[in-house]
Amino acid sequence: LARRARWLREMAAHVLAFPWPLQGHINPMLHLASALLDAGLRVTFLHTEHNLRRFTRVPPHHPRLRLASIPDGLPDHHPRSVGGLMELVESMRTAGSAAYRALLLRMMDSDDDDAVTCVITDGVMPFAVSVAEELGVPALAFRTESACGFLAYLSVPRLLELGEKPVPSDELVRGVPGMEGFLRRRDLPRVVPLPLPPGPGNGDPVPVLLTIADTAARCGESRALILNTAASMEGPALSRIAPHVRDVFAVGPLHARPAARHAAEHVSRSSDDMSLSAWLDGHEDRSVVYVNLGSLTIVSSEQLAEFLHGLVAAGYAFLAVFRQDMLHQMAAAVAGAGSERALVVEWALQRDAHHVLRHRAVGCFLTHGGWNSTLEAAVEGVPAVCWPFFADQQTNSRFVGAVWRTGLDMKDVCQRAVVERMVREAMESPEIRASAQSMSRQLRLDVAHGGSSSSELERLVGLITELSL
Ligand code: UDX
Repeated sequence: LARRARWLREMAAHVLAFPWPLQGHINPMLHLASALLDAGLRVTFLHTEHNLRRFTRVPPHHPRLRLASIPDGLPDHHPRSVGGLMELVESMRTAGSAAYRALLLRMMDSDDDDAVTCVITDGVMPFAVSVAEELGVPALAFRTESACGFLAYLSVPRLLELGEKPVPSDELVRGVPGMEGFLRRRDLPRVVPLPLPPGPGNGDPVPVLLTIADTAARCGESRALILNTAASMEGPALSRIAPHVRDVFAVGPLHARPAARHAAEHVSRSSDDMSLSAWLDGHEDRSVVYVNLGSLTIVSSEQLAEFLHGLVAAGYAFLAVFRQDMLHQMAAAVAGAGSERALVVEWALQRDAHHVLRHRAVGCFLTHGGWNSTLEAAVEGVPAVCWPFFADQQTNSRFVGAVWRTGLDMKDVCQRAVVERMVREAMESPEIRASAQSMSRQLRLDVAHGGSSSSELERLVGLITELSL
């Protein structure tokens, strides 16, 4: 009877999941939505109209999942990422926020039992929490970066007070509780180096860093903070975050849940996944370097040339995923490697990196250290070489190289000799592989029934259910 009563309560919970409209944020929100559907809750997944048109190739197939959309206020041809990120931020805060409020009001008004009972929004949009709470809908914040990255953001005001800025220096930083012994200035979060027109104040990262810190702190206004991490990986950072929020749930890595049927998936897979697998199938175990520097990475052509020289000199076959604007520089590198030893494909939204990372032929992952990529490598036990650019990537890569020792951190040094040496070491070092595999085993335990992340997820479902009554 008790179980049935709980089931009925869960059925009454209807979550509006509202991701920040970029890929690295949508993917983990989809995985969280899948977990909630699996737990019996109803979910409406809120896209921007632009993304709904672009990404959604298959209708949702879960009876308790719906899709909704709001305009982001930008014209269709707007880039919305590199070069247009600040406009997206501003537009979501104004036009997006107004449309979201109107949608929530409509969803609350519905006279059947369809009314939304709880919002889970990406924590980079504090407006989404305040609008929901103002309308009487409880809201939780989901941050898609690491706990260590989030803690570093929270620490920005203190860091600035101490004069600690994110610069390429080996000096150890004070001011990030729990990370004093190993975090260097070069490991602090950076802001996206936006191509701004020259002008007073442009290029000064301090105001942007303070805004990012304020946004992180405002997660404390939500009912709880959800992080896609595991206590086994980031326990110390999680306990330092706890006093800043009402509650914190470490439920990750969400994509690795054993039960994950990815119920919320509504983005079709690419047809050329087959040719990619066939190419990998033709290679020996652990003989291929997988390269993916993320969708927002900005590198100069000199840096990219150094990088590619080092990669080719390391002598392994490589599979590289690059954005279209970076592809033209690949031709020379592919010729240098020998065409059968290199496969270059364009960043494809529908192709999740963890499918590639799971392939037996992949020996290491050369990554920008985005949190999703870091988790995907960690779950598969694949050693990483990190070349971080901005946001939490600097901090994540320090943890990979110096704390977890599951890979190497190239940080801000992109020299051909360094790339070559690090790729060789990540491919061949038994110590690094052993640490990566041990972390993989632990993470699988964490998400399995009775594991810490799985229990946290149950606790989260309990809170949502309670808030929905
Ligand atoms: C950024 C931050 O760095 C990250 O820490 C934060 O959590 C989200 O924003 P991003 O630069 O997008 O992330 O990188 P990452 O976090 O690694 O996410 C990329 C996602 O895209 C991964 O889930 C990856 O599997 C997926 N991907 C990769 C694709 O969907 N298609 C591809 O072709 C390659």
